[in-house]
Amino acid sequence: MKPAIHYRIRKMGAGDIPIVSEIERNSFPSPWSELSFRSELHNPLTECVVADAGGEVIGYLCVSMVLDEAHLLTFGVSPLWRKRGVGRSMMVYILEMLRGSGIRNLFLEVRPSNQPALRLYESLGFRRTGLRRGYYSFPKEDAIVMVKVLYP
Ligand SMILES: CC(C)(COP(=O)(O)OP(=O)(O)OC[C@H]1O[C@@H](n2cnc3c(N)ncnc32)[C@H](O)[C@@H]1OP(=O)(O)O)[C@@H](O)C(=O)NCCC(=O)NCCS
Repeated sequence: MKPAIHYRIRKMGAGDIPIVSEIERNSFPSPWSELSFRSELHNPLTECVVADAGGEVIGYLCVSMVLDEAHLLTFGVSPLWRKRGVGRSMMVYILEMLRGSGIRNLFLEVRPSNQPALRLYESLGFRRTGLRRGYYSFPKEDAIVMVKVLYP
């Protein structure tokens, strides 16, 4: 069994962007640039958090909010720290935050081939609500659209 890890979830700051971008590059074939993260940090409609293990950033998540709807923008855990509950904790944290802000639905897109993410979302009560044909490139793939209803 892997030893327990201690981390806290906090707001992302500008100083986190280099390491967050490195995790992003290790997680996605078409990663966000440092500039994209920088501009989202200045966007009042976006909330970004990180998982911080004693000063080492090991995961991150960004959502955008418009009126009573939210959208998952990007979400990743450092490959070295996966399968230890970090992704689930960040998602639970953000769902609570959105619920507290009166957001009714959180939408996201996910590749059908991304079993780890699909299983995580399904275990948190997200349901499949649509398909966007050819949404992803490198490699080309459809996107499953999922929604988590926070207030029916
Ligand atoms: C998806 C991701 C964020 C999950 O983070 P994580 O910290 O490894 O996830 P957790 O340890 O919290 O796992 C939560 C659940 O996800 C599922 N899961 C996670 N990794 C899995 C794997 N390799 N295979 C199958 N299921 C997996 C399980 O249901 C798991 O619950 P369990 O531990 O009770 O079985 C991580 O795999 C990642 O960064 N992937 C690359 C980026 C990405 O795909 N982001 C999402 C884009 S939509």
